[in-house]
Amino acid sequence: MLTVITLYSTAQNEFEPNYDESKVPVFDLPNPLVTFNGKEVKTINDWENERRPELLEFFIQNVYGEVPDHLAITSFKIIEQGENALGGKAKRKQIELSFTKNGEELSYNILLYLPIDVEKAPIFLGYNFYGNHTVADDPNIIISDAWARNNESFGITNNQLTEQSRGIRTNRWAIEKMIDSGFGLATIYYGEIDPDKNDMTDGIHSLFYSKGQEKPKSNEWGSIAAWSWGLSRAMDYFEKDADIDASKVIVFGHSRLGKTSLWAGATDQRFAAVISNNSGCGGAALSKRKFGETIWRINNSFPHWFCDNFKKYNNNEEQLPVDQHELLALIAPRPLYVASAEDDKWADPRGEFLSAYYATPVYELYGKSGISNSEMPVVNNPTQSSIAYHIRTGEHDVTDYDWEQYIKWAKEYVLK
Ligand code: GCU
Repeated sequence: MLTVITLYSTAQNEFEPNYDESKVPVFDLPNPLVTFNGKEVKTINDWENERRPELLEFFIQNVYGEVPDHLAITSFKIIEQGENALGGKAKRKQIELSFTKNGEELSYNILLYLPIDVEKAPIFLGYNFYGNHTVADDPNIIISDAWARNNESFGITNNQLTEQSRGIRTNRWAIEKMIDSGFGLATIYYGEIDPDKNDMTDGIHSLFYSKGQEKPKSNEWGSIAAWSWGLSRAMDYFEKDADIDASKVIVFGHSRLGKTSLWAGATDQRFAAVISNNSGCGGAALSKRKFGETIWRINNSFPHWFCDNFKKYNNNEEQLPVDQHELLALIAPRPLYVASAEDDKWADPRGEFLSAYYATPVYELYGKSGISNSEMPVVNNPTQSSIAYHIRTGEHDVTDYDWEQYIKWAKEYVLK
């Protein structure tokens, strides 16, 4: 065991979220550089051949769930493209990926904006919450007909996306800043891979079922692993697209989709770098702190996100032989950015920061630097190296400020 963080142990009501730092329990944090059997990890070889595989396997079997089988893209087609997007700065492509298995089919669309003057563009890849047509005010973006959560202010009733929400999330996607800095953007509506509701009969899961099966086995994938699988299949496509530099795909996600980007980065080493924006519980935040959202709470509110085995740790974080800093360590030595927001206490900003700090020794094994100071930086004062971290003012959100930091960091740590 690596360390005991914190202060006083106080009994806590397991159903009320704790926001009081003095009530964070005393806990032992597992050391990423000691195997489950107590052997010290001293070399990259030990890490890559022993410790990393056992950690990855633990997260697969007990947290996010195993993908039951292999399934490659059955076919893809470019269904729309335009050379004159974003006032002539970018080219737009919309690509449909299709999958067939056991007589069932699923398709989803990737929306791409690529800088016109870059031959093979590095890209940010990230899911959106309400459809590709929300990320830019562009009449050519196809509106998805997949299930969507109702949202009156976005004009979503009967679980159908509509024209009314075109461009409504441009504030969360600094596309022009990306394009002006030589990056492209690829985005996908996450509901096309698996609708975000506690019903496992639909989405990509159903293609893998045997006859009569209605939900995955207890060690098999929840929705986060399904969404993350969708990002890897997008990566399969990028490897075939001559306009993209597939060795420079930075996987990004906010909140539940930040949990997803971390899991995608951990399971698929083709992703060059990973960004977690306000990912919180089950993402970057340390579970054992039980600050804000807890394992019990997340498994109750969103029973479909993780595998059923994860429920063993409801109100039982002490028994968990890993914590989320080890998820971050699985991304080493690739660049990793963890970002928090000051008013997003639910996601436990300090727990996100400490997780990045405790993942650092694995980066150091590779001669990379991470977060070397256990003091949290003050707000709006990013610390950037192979692991970067910032906490900005404001709420649970993605802002221009966040993107400015990601772009600056990606130029330095991904492009160079
Ligand atoms: C809820 C959930 C979080 C999640 C967030 C989001 O608040 O409890 O775990 O990150 O939704 O995805 O916006």
